Amino acid sequence: MIIAPSLLAANFGRLARETERVDGSGADWLHLDIMDGHFVPNISFGPAVVRTIRPLTKLFFDVHLMCSKPEILLEPFAQAGANQMNIHVEIGDHVTTLLWKIKSLGSKVGLAINPPTAISMVRPFLKQIDSLLIMTVNPGFGGQQFIYEMLPKIQPAAAWRREKNLRFHIGVDGGVDFKTAPECAQAGADAFISGTTLCHRRNLRAAVKKMRHLAESHRSPP
Ligand code: DX5
Ligand code: ZN
Repeated sequence: MIIAPSLLAANFGRLARETERVDGSGADWLHLDIMDGHFVPNISFGPAVVRTIRPLTKLFFDVHLMCSKPEILLEPFAQAGANQMNIHVEIGDHVTTLLWKIKSLGSKVGLAINPPTAISMVRPFLKQIDSLLIMTVNPGFGGQQFIYEMLPKIQPAAAWRREKNLRFHIGVDGGVDFKTAPECAQAGADAFISGTTLCHRRNLRAAVKKMRHLAESHRSPP
């Protein structure tokens, strides 16, 4: 089970201290939301910020590229210290090429899918990926309500993983809190990206522990 606080919910006025807070929280990954103002109606931060916080922690950096042209960003983020890069299946017909490109840069390979997109769209890529990121809100902003209609996407992904004997993570991203995380775990998710619910707590360590406990105790049978 992976617990991944999202830096998007941190205080941008003190990103270094916020990174160190996540570092000491017992979390597994630090989720880094990259928005280009085109694929999503918002802008967050770029490779320079990732490079700046990289020396502060050994945490696994999970970079989520909500970007129309991820091809121009893969090398900069790999050099900045990304451990995993997630591109969106919605970007077009060069998904396979870009997944290979991510791997060739020495990074773990992630594929994200937006709420309106059918889960069958990711099926051709499952052998290529280390992580599938199921968006449970429309991306662009933190603090949105979990879209319950997304829960039924998790179960087929978990079934394909089992049938094909694959090992990719199934992550959920958006509105993941202490109620929705266990519901996602029950459906087969094993990576929990959470911004507001984790980072807005005074005691991040306790929040990570609580989410991990809830996820583990609702884990779906293999
Ligand atoms: C949404 C981002 C999410 C976001 C989650 O566009 O991809 O990673 O940070 O934030 P919460 O947990 O607040 O919904
Ligand atoms: Zn994200």
